[in-house]
Amino acid sequence: MGVTASAPAKVILFGEHFVVYGEPAIVLAIDRRAYAKTEKRSDKLLHLRSTNLNLSAIIQNGNFKVEQGDLKEARMKFEPVELAVKRILEKYGENVGLDIEITSTVPVGAGLGSSAAVVAAVATSVGALLDIQMSKEDIFKITCEAEKAVHGTPSGVDPAISTFGGALLFQMDTGFKPLEVKTDIPLVIGDTGVERSTRVQVEKVKEITEKYPQIIEPVMLAAREIVLRAMDACKKNELETLGELMNLNHALLHAVGVSDESLEWLINAAKKAGALGAKLTGAGGGGCMIALAENEKLRGVLEAIQSAGGRPFIARKTDEGARIERD
Ligand code: PMV
Repeated sequence: MGVTASAPAKVILFGEHFVVYGEPAIVLAIDRRAYAKTEKRSDKLLHLRSTNLNLSAIIQNGNFKVEQGDLKEARMKFEPVELAVKRILEKYGENVGLDIEITSTVPVGAGLGSSAAVVAAVATSVGALLDIQMSKEDIFKITCEAEKAVHGTPSGVDPAISTFGGALLFQMDTGFKPLEVKTDIPLVIGDTGVERSTRVQVEKVKEITEKYPQIIEPVMLAAREIVLRAMDACKKNELETLGELMNLNHALLHAVGVSDESLEWLINAAKKAGALGAKLTGAGGGGCMIALAENEKLRGVLEAIQSAGGRPFIARKTDEGARIERD
């Protein structure tokens, strides 16, 4: 008998990049989830399978053997999962073989936190199967450790949102705080399909900040003010204000050089179709954009993004973090 668990993906609603310089950011868990089903094996092997990526591998004492797919890709994709499982087994003194099957509805490599969602789902299912009393805090720590070791992202935004769900305010020096959000924030997410590297985009902002400190300083201040006002608008369910703030936030991101043609194209299409606001989300330079729209406009915005060459889907905030699925 296996145990299935799931965890949500994320979007950064406001404050990406500026968050690296100590400003606040708002992150949202969305209703796209990664699922992990774990079963015990009669031997001591770890068997990992990803149904979406058509990858599977057997791991024994750190020895990695690919069964299906490319070795390099399998290693890369499974590394954080392997690390998390190893950590759980060590920490709780378990010595068992496991079969883990991963299925995800989260686009991969698009800045939506698919990797952290998978790891949080795996950690939750392994914990439940072995009857280990793991708190959400334990799941978060293990997911964070695995993600940091592999992706080197210091902020821990993805593991936090995948574990706890809902909306979080994040700031480097104070960490995470749950945010009160009255609306489910109807979004259309558009994947440009353009590959991007978070590291390269973060480096771009660093260069411009170092070159023009007096110009970028007020940009950072404006980014902070946008987040403060957005917190208030979230509390009061003011969608129109949120849309305007998204447009302003995008203009700042454009100013520091992290938008690109593919994003501008989709953002303009969304606005023309009646979105209340639109911006890039995450690192930029490709990846995804988000558009906020009233319910009756969502389909039109989705179609406009599709016609402009993007891969769109409708998403809403979810309060459900990592959880066990009862089948
Ligand atoms: O696109 P992502 O999920 O890699 O988001 C990057 C967010 C940045 O603010 C650009 C970097 C960071 O570590 O916060």
